[in-house]
Amino acid sequence: MLNQQMNAHIAEAAAFIREKTALSPEIGLIMGSGLGVLGDHLEEPVVNPYHDIPHFPISTVEGHAGELLIGRLSGRIVVLMRGRFHMYEGYGPELTAFPVRVMKALGVRALLVTNAAGGINLDFASGNLMLISDHINLTGRNPLIGPNDDSLGVRFPDMSEAYSKRLREVAKEIASMQGFALKEGVYAGLLGPSYETPAEIRMLRTLGADAVGMSTVAEVIAARHSGIEVVGISCITNMASGILDQPLSHEEVMETAERVKSRFLGLVTSLISKM
Ligand code: HPA
Repeated sequence: MLNQQMNAHIAEAAAFIREKTALSPEIGLIMGSGLGVLGDHLEEPVVNPYHDIPHFPISTVEGHAGELLIGRLSGRIVVLMRGRFHMYEGYGPELTAFPVRVMKALGVRALLVTNAAGGINLDFASGNLMLISDHINLTGRNPLIGPNDDSLGVRFPDMSEAYSKRLREVAKEIASMQGFALKEGVYAGLLGPSYETPAEIRMLRTLGADAVGMSTVAEVIAARHSGIEVVGISCITNMASGILDQPLSHEEVMETAERVKSRFLGLVTSLISKM
């Protein structure tokens, strides 16, 4: 998309949202498959269905509601995406990252991304939460391709601390206070939508990945490009293909996300208060 056109779309989407609420969000939250429950905890939320927001794509996946909420949570003003856009739905990376651009335009300075992911690290188990220390973008795509808009960020953004060290330390402290083992590791982002083969999972393990999923990387690249601090949490909803002698399914992903809901909520609500 031409930059000018993209900028106009960002501005129109942000203007629409600003008209709906006097609250000015400083923290962005992107909730993955089955994790949108956090949205139920917002105080006095203003709910914007994606199809009402100019230029917003519409999420087509079961378990992703498709609403942008603005409200208060843990004493902060937040903008929460219940449901996100994946490249496997047919959206380009710049559209997948579009909501992050809109968040930036609304004044967001820190972003929490969450996702459902398959566990590659053999020390993991289904139901674990994993703090994302780094990612490997294996989608072959990047939301920054095309002419750079210098008003958004630099041409070649640094990714050496894509996931904030400070916020990772905070998350680890919270988990230890809450008495559970928070795993930490590298998230490999693939296009999907087919799950991986066992051979692909062995390859990903060799490459240094601890978990695998089909989201997050484009959003985080766009966030870092525009100077937003990022923290990421994966819910290990299943062990990746070939590790256990059983097929993978979206139902299992949703069931596990439901099972870890309260631990997930405890961690993220505390984390938000420190962001
Ligand atoms: N692979 C890719 N994406 C996923 C998985 C998986 O095993 N689980 C949840 N999202």
